Amino acid sequence: MRRYTILILFLGIVFLITDPLYYILGPINDSIPYQDNIKLPDNFLWGTSSSAHQMEGNQHNDWTEWEEKQAAALAANHEDCARIPEQFCDQKTDRANYISGTGAEGYGRYQEDISLANSLGVQAYRFSIEWARIEPQQNVFDETAIQHYREEIALLRKQHMEPFVTLWHWTIPSWFSEKGGWCSAEAVADFADYVTHVTNALGAEVTYWITLNEPQVYIAIPYLDGRPPGRNPICSVQVFRHLLAAHKQAYTLIKFHNAQASIGIAQGVINFETPKSTTTARLQHALARAWNKFFLHRIEHEQDFIGINYFHGGLTYGYKKNYTEVSDLNWPLYPEGIYHVLMEMKDFHTPIYITENGLADAADSKRAQYIKDIIKNIDAAEQNGAPIKGYFYWSLTDSFEWSHGYWPRFGLINIDYANKLRTIRPSAYEYSSIIKANGF
Ligand code: BGC
Repeated sequence: MRRYTILILFLGIVFLITDPLYYILGPINDSIPYQDNIKLPDNFLWGTSSSAHQMEGNQHNDWTEWEEKQAAALAANHEDCARIPEQFCDQKTDRANYISGTGAEGYGRYQEDISLANSLGVQAYRFSIEWARIEPQQNVFDETAIQHYREEIALLRKQHMEPFVTLWHWTIPSWFSEKGGWCSAEAVADFADYVTHVTNALGAEVTYWITLNEPQVYIAIPYLDGRPPGRNPICSVQVFRHLLAAHKQAYTLIKFHNAQASIGIAQGVINFETPKSTTTARLQHALARAWNKFFLHRIEHEQDFIGINYFHGGLTYGYKKNYTEVSDLNWPLYPEGIYHVLMEMKDFHTPIYITENGLADAADSKRAQYIKDIIKNIDAAEQNGAPIKGYFYWSLTDSFEWSHGYWPRFGLINIDYANKLRTIRPSAYEYSSIIKANGF
């Protein structure tokens, strides 16, 4: 009886809160005014992205330690094989799938990867610098690693590709992890030491910097589900504060070297598509908006652009009805969602780059259409006043998909992990045609 009273009270409160919110925030997801011909502005930047841990191979950081400990358990926990294409089941149950190891060997083969991107007409490349390579021990900096990234940036410039450099894409050096990682009281100062070193060396050579990749996802997921840095919900509040401060510090340090630099974060966003009339839908919609903008509002004065990472629609009970296609990861493909998110971001009056968008599609049967559908929605948002300046497909090559390991295939370029052979997928040629035509 008591349980039901609590439930009724809870629903009443939800209704009381969300109904006024619905009237304040307006109707959910208006219809989208698509154009017949998709044509992005002349200076629109077409790119592709990657991250160090996922494609460089041979890393030594908190993730590699975790992989060694957890790989067997991840391989054993394969009961959801039924939800993925049959051919991946063997890989899912193989411990080796969960160890990043040599991977795509992107660190040693970056010239090949950049040349392949160039052959597709890609105009910008987002990649991340691996903190653990630059500072393997606290205050011990590896100049050969700095030189490596300097050469990578120079090669991009030579091949007329704009580098978008991410300073932190989730992995941390072991020494930092042992101190408590982002939870530690010294976290902001430690990160500032690393950023100081990188910007002293490369500050004048890079215009576009992404300080942090998806800080909110990092706070919300690993600290709750146990991925690195490990389950610790109490810590996540502290981590939120530290990441905010770390971004602001990095902003100042980068500007010191290059006042013209353009700096932002890559924000992981969600869009909920739900039936208009339900209270739950209103609540979910309000929460999604709050989620998308929370961190961004707090760095409003320290961001020159907003980076958007968009992968799927919200997982709500409207899900089955609204999403007909899913990726190999069983993530709903919902290209319309990016339109709604971009329109929400319009209020910031800040340039927007879609810094990540893509899908796991080993058969390459959905990728080209999905990219087109996404671009159609980006174009509609741009025509409606959202200041969108570029799009980066995730990812350039297949790469290590964190706790899923190697089986999900996001790349424009297929990697044969046995011999590291790169093969351009057919969908990449379609993306290339879109780039050349600046639309379709
Ligand atoms: C992350 C990437 C990841 C992608 C697909 C993004 O949130 O930044 O590292 O590969 O999602 O899961």
